[in-house]
Amino acid sequence: MSLAVVILAAGKGTRMKSELPKVLHPIAGRPMVQHVVDAAGALSPANTVIVYGHGGDRVREAVTGERLQWAEQAEQLGTGHAVAQALPHLDEDVVLVLYGDVPLIRPETLRRFVGRVNDQSLALMTLELDDPSGYGRVVRDDQGRVTRIVEQKDASDEEKRLREINTGILACTRRFLNDSLPRLSNRNAQGEYYLTDLIAMAVDAGMEIAVDQPDHPWEVDGVNDRVQLSRLERVYQGVRAEALMREGVTVLDPARLDIRGQADVASDVTLDVNVILEGRVSIGPGCRIGAHCVIRDADLGAGVVVEPHSIIDGATVGDHCQVGPFARLRPGTELAAKARIGNFVETKKSSIGEGSKVNHLTYIGDSRVGKDVNVGAGTITCNYDGANKFQTVLKDGVFIGSNSSLVAPVTVGENATVGAGSVITKDVPGNGLAVARGQQRNIENWPRPTKK
Ligand code: UD1
Ligand code: CA
Repeated sequence: MSLAVVILAAGKGTRMKSELPKVLHPIAGRPMVQHVVDAAGALSPANTVIVYGHGGDRVREAVTGERLQWAEQAEQLGTGHAVAQALPHLDEDVVLVLYGDVPLIRPETLRRFVGRVNDQSLALMTLELDDPSGYGRVVRDDQGRVTRIVEQKDASDEEKRLREINTGILACTRRFLNDSLPRLSNRNAQGEYYLTDLIAMAVDAGMEIAVDQPDHPWEVDGVNDRVQLSRLERVYQGVRAEALMREGVTVLDPARLDIRGQADVASDVTLDVNVILEGRVSIGPGCRIGAHCVIRDADLGAGVVVEPHSIIDGATVGDHCQVGPFARLRPGTELAAKARIGNFVETKKSSIGEGSKVNHLTYIGDSRVGKDVNVGAGTITCNYDGANKFQTVLKDGVFIGSNSSLVAPVTVGENATVGAGSVITKDVPGNGLAVARGQQRNIENWPRPTKK
């Protein structure tokens, strides 16, 4: 049976108090509704329709997915009305209804759930809550069969005591939607077309209500304000941290790790507190990532040590390199094995050869640095003249004395040495020494000025 997914995302989200449409607020750096689209996408539906209203264009621009369609709900007249807006876009056999503000639903749960739908049964996801207030309640008969859902605002005192709630997630045949949605009425406490009235209609039609529960309650938690958003962020991060730990990664405090993207972390990696992994990150076996590091779109080999407060962005780091503390590797940095980048060093669009060291207070940009090069403290590649960028080449075995400026384009030949404090504007021949600074002059017995 072919599957379509309808994602309701037209709500205003007033309680977010935000310019940004609610469903675009991120969990792990990704819009909430994108999480829902991706979870649904894992079931390879033939069609996914997002019902949007507020901030429509922004939502459309921000969300990506395969076989996505958009249905506008100009006025929010209720969840039943919202699904009705999607109906013209649907011709699949089974329709799964999800919420754009319930971001952590898992594909595994959905797959099992959708499997329970057939011509004679509608699937309903429910949950038992200690405090069910605010939710629609699931009403059952003497035999325990679901008969209907009653919304909080329409519920009698007795019904309000029911603890089984409607999560809002539902699946049924398109034919049933076609037949029943036009028959919804808005004669209820909120004057809305309730999707939940479909349950009683299905029961009337002699269908079975197949009730299912999510594996984890947080899968069906919704976001109405930023407090709930932050809670679900932590839930999500906790799940990711736990998955890493199960794969053999040491996470010193799972409450202080954030993964915003795809992280491939090998076993025996240690992640200290407040590490953030963003985008596509891969970290090889045995790496140690110190506290307060941000690693984004980067590839780290085996046994790399990153000391605290370092930022690695768009870089490739070879096996057994040492980076930081307080290092910043910018996009296009490639460190060969065993290279060392120390404190307050910034690199950009540069390759650093095997075993080379850039240990202190340095900027290396647009450079090719060979093997076993030593770049002294305070070295700056002057790669930019205000209009264009130029290359600096340091060949194998070069030694750059401290506080030197390398004015690109410039090449320092193999095993050459640059004296400390030099401003190098011309190429240096291999094995040579370049000293480019004022000559030292000594004045004997110089009387230091005194206060008058
Ligand atoms: C709904 C259910 C309730 C359930 C609860 C779970 C109905 C009538 N009630 O109530 O049984 O316990 O969810 O959270 O369905 N939306 C639209 N267009 C609309 C109205 C809503 O797109 O016209 C979207 C909202 O953006 C949201 C979702 O549908 O993503 C749920 O809407 P909301 O108003 O939060 O429903 P509840 O009253 O909480
Ligand atoms: Ca709600």
